Amino acid sequence: MILKNCLSYPNNDIIDIKIKDGFVSDDSDDDIIIDVGKNMVIPSFSELHIHLDSAFILDEDLENKSGTLEEGISLWDKYKKEKLNPSELRGRVMKAIHLLENNGVTRIRTNVDVSDPTLTALKEMMRIKNEVKNVDLQITAFPQHGLFTCTDNSELLEKSLELGADNVGIAPHLEDTYEEGIKSIKTAYDLAEKYKKNIDGHIDETDDPESRFIELLAKERIKRNFKGSVSAGHLTAMHSYNNQYANRVIGLIARAGIDVISNPLINMHLQGRYDSYPRIRGVTRIREMLDHGVNVSIGQDCIMDPWYPLGSGDPLDALFMALHAEPLMTPDLLEHSLNMITYNAAMAFGAKNYGYSYGSQGDFIVTDAKNPVEIIQYRHSRKVIRKGFLIKGD
Ligand code: FE2
Repeated sequence: MILKNCLSYPNNDIIDIKIKDGFVSDDSDDDIIIDVGKNMVIPSFSELHIHLDSAFILDEDLENKSGTLEEGISLWDKYKKEKLNPSELRGRVMKAIHLLENNGVTRIRTNVDVSDPTLTALKEMMRIKNEVKNVDLQITAFPQHGLFTCTDNSELLEKSLELGADNVGIAPHLEDTYEEGIKSIKTAYDLAEKYKKNIDGHIDETDDPESRFIELLAKERIKRNFKGSVSAGHLTAMHSYNNQYANRVIGLIARAGIDVISNPLINMHLQGRYDSYPRIRGVTRIREMLDHGVNVSIGQDCIMDPWYPLGSGDPLDALFMALHAEPLMTPDLLEHSLNMITYNAAMAFGAKNYGYSYGSQGDFIVTDAKNPVEIIQYRHSRKVIRKGFLIKGD
């Protein structure tokens, strides 16, 4: 495939993109030529934080009346007990993957709850991972209730890694005690070192400014000289930290090279539920972290589940919310905000060959936009190209 007259992002050069055997090449002997007429062609989106196992389970029995994280968790537990099985899970997961693909996502990192003794969801998700062609799928073994609230949870997490999960998940703020939260972070590093995995945590997803597990997550990486990647999802408590502490801990996050994933759709919905007015927004400090050089991405988190009744699977929706919540709409920030669902997200995912250069994977989104901001403003229909094949659009 040859894409002619592409406006590149962020350099704004007019280039031709030649894709051969799935990768960007110097030449292409294929005769599929698309002239995109100097519109923007961007490298594909990466979705770094989503829960495919709970996508589309929302129905009348699962209405989250309080709108809190806690009620969402208990509704999910009810669903797992009464309805979850491999075939219905597969149907929902594939529907969500197709939605994401059609929006231009070709890399997905999904959490899978591994607190079920049979590991039903994990085993089915592993099968799906091996079958899907249009996305690279990564699995985070996520203990929804923490590691030490139930006696079996840390064993189940370890079993999940043995079964092939890519990332060690944790949620230290959901442990019963502060000490167990600390222990969960150390356990995550121990397991990641033992099985040569990366770490991908739900960290400080609360409005409680006393929740400061991010500092240990960062410091432990430095102390252990841990070579794998470490991602911290949510960090909503940071919204409520005092400015002096926030500044100090953001410096530590930058030094430790932690990848941060903010999920503004769900956190604008779930946070601030224990406030009266004024009500906090509860989205982490994206702008300050970008200023400190932290690699920040934006995630979708949920699609129509007990934590979030909406969700289109479009990274542009999540980015749109982040732009408002922070806010991030200075001309420069707005123009470069796509980085958080393209380059930054691909880096956190560990994508080795990403972008326009020779050898990059041939995954692109062809838009009708003449500049990056138009992509967000107009949300034109998109053509999606995966390894040199058109998988959406004509
Ligand atoms: Fe999450």
